[in-house]
Formats: sequence, structure tokens, C-alpha cells
Amino acid sequence: MNILHVLFKTSIGKKVAMAVTGFILFGFVIGHLSGNLQIFAHPDKINGYAHLLESLGPALWVIRLFLIVTVVVHIWVAVQLTFENRAARPDGYQKQITLRATLASRYMRWSGFVVLAFIVYHILHFTVRVTHGPGAYPMTVLADGTVVRDVHSMMVLGFQNPLLATCYLISVGLLSWHLRHGLVSMFQSIGLRTRPWSRFLERVSVIFCVLYFLGNALIVVAAMTGQIRIQNPLVAGYACRDACDVCGAINTEAIVENVDVAKDNQS
Ligand code: HEM
Repeated sequence: MNILHVLFKTSIGKKVAMAVTGFILFGFVIGHLSGNLQIFAHPDKINGYAHLLESLGPALWVIRLFLIVTVVVHIWVAVQLTFENRAARPDGYQKQITLRATLASRYMRWSGFVVLAFIVYHILHFTVRVTHGPGAYPMTVLADGTVVRDVHSMMVLGFQNPLLATCYLISVGLLSWHLRHGLVSMFQSIGLRTRPWSRFLERVSVIFCVLYFLGNALIVVAAMTGQIRIQNPLVAGYACRDACDVCGAINTEAIVENVDVAKDNQS
């Protein structure tokens, strides 16, 4: 039998497809959080990292395409499984355990839907950068003179709006909840949620997802409350008025001049 037929036409195949795509997306969010946590280091760190990713060029597009296909398959199979479950559901709930399972999958659907809406907004916000108008986000210069997008300032500016920051916190909270249930279902689908392991898996998934939420929340709250400050002289309200951590100049004019010279050299 064709592998695609098994994956997309049989119930067990669909569950395995959910588990595999979920695992890939799980890997992405963990990788993304690790990259984002660099915001707590010198701005050059996260700006250089974003620049490195951008310089992957066509390879970055291959990765993006792969992730888009993964998300589409994950959602498509989830919708199919939902219809199948509805068709197979008996008229009344016989046992409390069935009711609990149904509630969990209902919350999975709702949290998945909100997370999808969040991802669309988030890409418009930080990748396409259209939500705050053209030119809202600055450029900066790395210690080696390379002019790059200032992702550090973009993130700090992005979370200075308390309403937006709160929406991010809620979305990441729902995503963490979604991941926690997803992890357990993933192990169940691939047959690893056996009785001796079940409790352990539940605990590990709770601890993991709480840590995941706290990692993201730390970034949002630190930026919102001014614990992470803008260090780019081209951004109003920047922190290094007298001495710039980015370019080493010791007064405002020299800092701005350094950035301008570096930009001219690059163009
Ligand atoms: C507080 C949490 C988050 C922060 C601070 C954050 C930050 C960022 C930043 C700065 C970018 C743009 C990178 C660049 O311009 O080079 C980005 C892109 C992106 N983020 Fe997030 N992110 C967060 C949460 C999430 C979550 C939870 C998801 C997915 C569930 C996600 C998915 C993405 C995707 C798909 C992109 C586009 C990557 C690309 O350019 O191909 N982010 N994020």
C-alpha cells in the first residue's frame, strides 16, 4: 500500500501524520525561543543572528516553505480527524472519561485556531513589518561595520505597547497549553504512552510547557517594563546617550556619525 495513502486515508496514519508534523513544529518553536532569548545579550548578538538567517537567502525560503507545508498538513489532518470523531461519536456520553477527552480536543481546536491567528499577525508584525507602517523599524551597525536590521530595537519597540504585549502573552499561553496536550497525544499516537510511562510523560510535558511559556513571557515582560532597553541612537529614546554599547562612540553626534559612515560604506 502507498505510504501517502496510509498516512492520509487511515485513522492511525492521520494520527501519525499529526504526531510527526506536531513534532517538527515543536522543534521550530523551541529553536525560535532559543534564538529570541539572545535579546538578553548584547544587541549585536540577536541582530547578527537575524542577519545570518537572512543571509541564507534561498535556503531560508526552502525552510519557510517546509514549515508552511508542515502547518498546512497539521491543520488539514486535524480537521479530518475532527469530522471523523464527530461521525463516530455515540449519542450520549457514557463515561466521564469520554467527556474529558472530548473537552480536551475541543480546547485543542480553539487554542490551535487562536495560535494560527497569532502567527499570521506575528509574521505581519515582525517579518513583513507592515503593522507599524513603513520605516517604523531601524537599521543598526554591528561591531564589524556591517549594517543590519535592528531586530533588538524592533522587539523592544514591539512590546512597549501593553495591549499588544498582553495579546502576545495570551497567545503564547494558549500555545503552551496546546503544546502540553499535543505532546501527550503525540506519544500516544506513536504508541509510547504506555501505563508505566503515562504519569511521567504528563509531568514532563507540564514542566516543559511551563518553562516554554516563562521563556517567552520573560522576553515580552522585560521589553514592556524597560528591563531591556533600546541601544540604537537612531531610535528616539535610546539608552546610550553618552556612550554607545553598539559602536563604542562616546557622545550622541559621534554615535549617529558612526552609523551614517558605516551605512555609506555598505552602499
Ligand atoms: C514572545 C514571543 C516571540 C517573540 C519575541 C518572537 C520574535 C520574532 C521575531 C523578532 C521575528 C522576526 C525575525 C527576523 O526579522 O529576522 C519572528 C519571526 C517569526 N516568528 Fe516569532 N516570536 C515569538 C513567538 C513566536 C511563536 C510562539 C511562533 C509560532 C508559534 C512564532 C513564529 C514565528 C515565525 C513563523 C516567524 C517568521 C520566520 C521567518 O522569517 O521565516 N514566533 N519572531
